[in-house]
Amino acid sequence: MKKILIVNASKRRNGNSYALEKRFMEQMEGKAEVMAFHIGEKDVRVCLACDGCKRQHTPNCVQKDDFTALIPEIDSCDAMLILAPVHWDQFPAQLKAFLDRTYSFMDFTQPDFSMAGRKDKKLAGYFFAGFGPVDVYTTMVETNLKSFATAGFSDYKAHVAGDANVPGSIMEKEENLKVADEVAEWLLA
Ligand SMILES: Cc1cc2nc3c(=O)[nH]c(=O)nc-3n(C[C@H](O)[C@H](O)[C@H](O)COP(=O)(O)O)c2cc1C
Repeated sequence: MKKILIVNASKRRNGNSYALEKRFMEQMEGKAEVMAFHIGEKDVRVCLACDGCKRQHTPNCVQKDDFTALIPEIDSCDAMLILAPVHWDQFPAQLKAFLDRTYSFMDFTQPDFSMAGRKDKKLAGYFFAGFGPVDVYTTMVETNLKSFATAGFSDYKAHVAGDANVPGSIMEKEENLKVADEVAEWLLA
């Protein structure tokens, strides 16, 4: 059974990221082992840029927080799904901290700069925006997803659902739900 890690970076419990997470969980039941990591409720500190992780050649971090505890799950999963809002045209702050901390997978002694145990993992980013330009945000999300290659996510897909300010409104948007179904299928394949 595939192991899928969901990283939810919304603070709105009744919002769209959480609504889609619930739907994904139901769809994946019995088909994959799914673990959800709710960044908003976790202690994910900023990267100290101390290079302490470069003293070893397996993913590690000197900080003792919820990100460090998650490193083995990030390294061993088959796929990761990020569900998140767009904040000020960018990744929300907690998710950017999460991305920065994947520096703990970077290894300058390797030709591909990665000490990830697996480098064939899939990554999907499904984002929500209230009013901004979806095409611009899709490029922004893709640019950020690319950086997860260091942690072994070599294949990625991005989708941004616009006009999503109303909490839970995703559940009434057939087109966006269709894309969510395609994302779920791709992650499970
Ligand atoms: C601090 C903050 C900044 C935001 N910035 C943007 C933005 O730049 N562009 C945009 O379209 N929506 C912006 N929004 C709206 C959210 O992206 C939108 O409400 C989204 O659907 C929330 O996702 P959620 O329901 O999963 O929490 C912002 C919301 C907050 C709270």
